[in-house]
Amino acid sequence: MSNAKQTSLRLPNDVLSRLGLPATEVDVVITGYVQRLDTPNGTVWLKIAESKKPAAIRRFLRAAIDLLSVPALARTPDSKGADTLLKQAGRADLLRKSGFNTPETIYVTRELYIATHAGIPLSKLAANAKRSDDLKQRKLLEKIVLQATGELSRLHEMGLAHGRPKLRDIGWMKGGNGSADDGTNFLYDLEEHPWDVMPVADAQARDIVLWLIDLCSHSATKDVAVEACSRMRASMTHETAVALCQIITRMKLVAPGARLLSVAGIGGPELRGGIAAYDLMKTQMKRIRTV
Ligand SMILES: Nc1ncnc2c1ncn2[C@@H]1O[C@H](COP(=O)(O)OP(=O)(O)OP(=O)(O)O)[C@@H](O)[C@H]1O
Ligand SMILES: [Mg+2]
Repeated sequence: MSNAKQTSLRLPNDVLSRLGLPATEVDVVITGYVQRLDTPNGTVWLKIAESKKPAAIRRFLRAAIDLLSVPALARTPDSKGADTLLKQAGRADLLRKSGFNTPETIYVTRELYIATHAGIPLSKLAANAKRSDDLKQRKLLEKIVLQATGELSRLHEMGLAHGRPKLRDIGWMKGGNGSADDGTNFLYDLEEHPWDVMPVADAQARDIVLWLIDLCSHSATKDVAVEACSRMRASMTHETAVALCQIITRMKLVAPGARLLSVAGIGGPELRGGIAAYDLMKTQMKRIRTV
């Protein structure tokens, strides 16, 4: 991550032995808050608890979201609290037990979380597809994004929610039958638990909005957002549809201001994605209301 702060960590011997590292190599230097570590027993990710200062544009957008009163989309209050790592690991374990792919927890305390590799973030696949402009890569990306959308809907059908689904927090790993486009989506960075402060239907509606905003923010995935939206619409419950309509109504109030900011070049891809997602949902909402 961008923060260059270095932290030296002393890992317990049982963790070192599980990773295939000799007990003499106890110090791991972690730069920033998240660090990849390639070990003889495979790649793992280390995450330390630290309240990070978001980038200026992110702080501005968050303030704007609060100011413009779409509270349903704001960060939930304790997402960076003291127990965030324990909560993330617990959530990953719970989801795995319910049949979802999440990284396996190797070690977790309030200060350090070590988890298995979850593949390449979908945001990176989107960036690669945009750069190469290769039709095959774009088709593969579409397939992976719709697969991830299906996982989100499956979570919702089980009465659960994700919290803050983003392309950068879902990984894809090649696997299965060995063909180049066969693989598995992994959910990670499960730090937000909005259902602690709102009904599950609201948290599910929020998942749908945040996912569509993120899809619309990346040029390589904005076309697939239409299909993702219609698939999620088809499987959502009536309560979630009602909650979604409420969020869209709130967004309607702030849309003109957001469009002005965007035309003035303020807000970047996230704001543009928000506007595009709103336009998309507005069209589909008419159909939601008849559900
Ligand atoms: N288990 C994992 N497998 C693969 N990549 C990972 C894993 N954990 C973290 N990463 C990589 O590190 C990045 C940051 O990790 P993570 O999202 O957990 O941290 P964060 O600080 O909460 O990020 P955010 O900015 O999304 O709030 C991820 O986007 C991903 O690229
Ligand atoms: Mg993340």
